Amino acid sequence: MGYKIAVVGATGNVGREILNILAERQFPVDEIAALASRKSLGTEVTFGETTLTIKDLATFDFSGWDIALFAVGSTATKEYAPKAAKAGCVVIDNSSLYRYDPDVPLIVPEVNADAITGYSKKNIIANPNCSTAQMVVALKPLHDRARIKRVVVSTYQSVSGAGKDGMDELWDQTKSIYNPTDDKPAQKFTKQIAFNVIPHIDVFMEDGSTKEEWKMVAETKKIVDPKIKVTATCVRVPVFVGHSEAVNIEFEDFLDEDEARDILREAPGVMVIDKREDGGYVTPIECVGDFATFISRIRQDSTIENGLNLWCVSDNLRKGAALNAVQIAEVLGTRCLKKG
Ligand SMILES: NC(=O)c1ccc[n+]([C@@H]2O[C@H](COP(=O)([O-])OP(=O)(O)OC[C@H]3O[C@@H](n4cnc5c(N)ncnc54)[C@H](OP(=O)(O)O)[C@@H]3O)[C@@H](O)[C@H]2O)c1
Repeated sequence: MGYKIAVVGATGNVGREILNILAERQFPVDEIAALASRKSLGTEVTFGETTLTIKDLATFDFSGWDIALFAVGSTATKEYAPKAAKAGCVVIDNSSLYRYDPDVPLIVPEVNADAITGYSKKNIIANPNCSTAQMVVALKPLHDRARIKRVVVSTYQSVSGAGKDGMDELWDQTKSIYNPTDDKPAQKFTKQIAFNVIPHIDVFMEDGSTKEEWKMVAETKKIVDPKIKVTATCVRVPVFVGHSEAVNIEFEDFLDEDEARDILREAPGVMVIDKREDGGYVTPIECVGDFATFISRIRQDSTIENGLNLWCVSDNLRKGAALNAVQIAEVLGTRCLKKG
């Protein structure tokens, strides 16, 4: 016996990837519904070998459905997730709406799967921000060994993190640079993204940081340890898929770079590619379609007592969103909603 699964936002970047990953990982599905807005009614999306026709989220009845994987923005989530949860369907939400709610667990299964039991308070589980998810998979095993005090992270985030409109803007603008009669001014992003980088993701906060940077701070504390201090600079780069991060970590105890490499090699969800030679590291293009978070360039930071630097790359539509959501559904299935 399998589950009745609804994928909400199934025409979007994350929703389509959720369908792919459910099929790839052979999630036990009895019935599946692909939902989006009314304008997508009749659009077809694929689930393994099957073609699904989009249904309207606004009129969908979640009664009798086991799990809804939500991949729509916060506005639509706010309207429909409580309806699904109230109908008895457990919501796994990709938006930021519920991430900081103390009654909603924020889960990265490799790090804090045990927190999933808290889902029953609201029937909702939150999926973290893409840049946080890949970073905490690498931080957790190092924290367990040497206690992390502080993290300084700079991100290089792909345009797919801004949805399908973000990908279209990079594509159209890149073409328009070579054909100046077809000018494509910035719309989704605040400045030209083609052949450029933009140090601004999400809205500005009062202290001058951006909401994306704040999310990395708050989510790392909620998922790994509230004592860890994080400071982040989040940057959008003209890459279609795959987020990269330069991470500087300060520990309480000394941790040798070779031991850190060994710890990360054993860590769930992590793949270490770290040869000190030309090309002996991972770049975003190489991580696309993969499940792992790739770690390269592990090295001591000799400017502080107990410090390490590393380079962290992952497919933001997978570990940063769809894969993590499906992994949560797997944990939910095996621990809480047993079937058969
Ligand atoms: N992309 C990432 O790396 C990433 C990572 C973590 C979290 N997230 C979060 O995941 C969510 C989805 O992101 P995305 O990148 O997949 O966005 P996207 O490509 O723009 O897709 C948005 C999806 O939401 C649907 N939708 C929007 N408003 C709706 C409404 N009122 N009713 C029903 N469906 C509606 C759209 O359906 P139509 O096609 O019918 O408009 C589409 O399927 C967002 O909350 C985002 O913040 C994204």
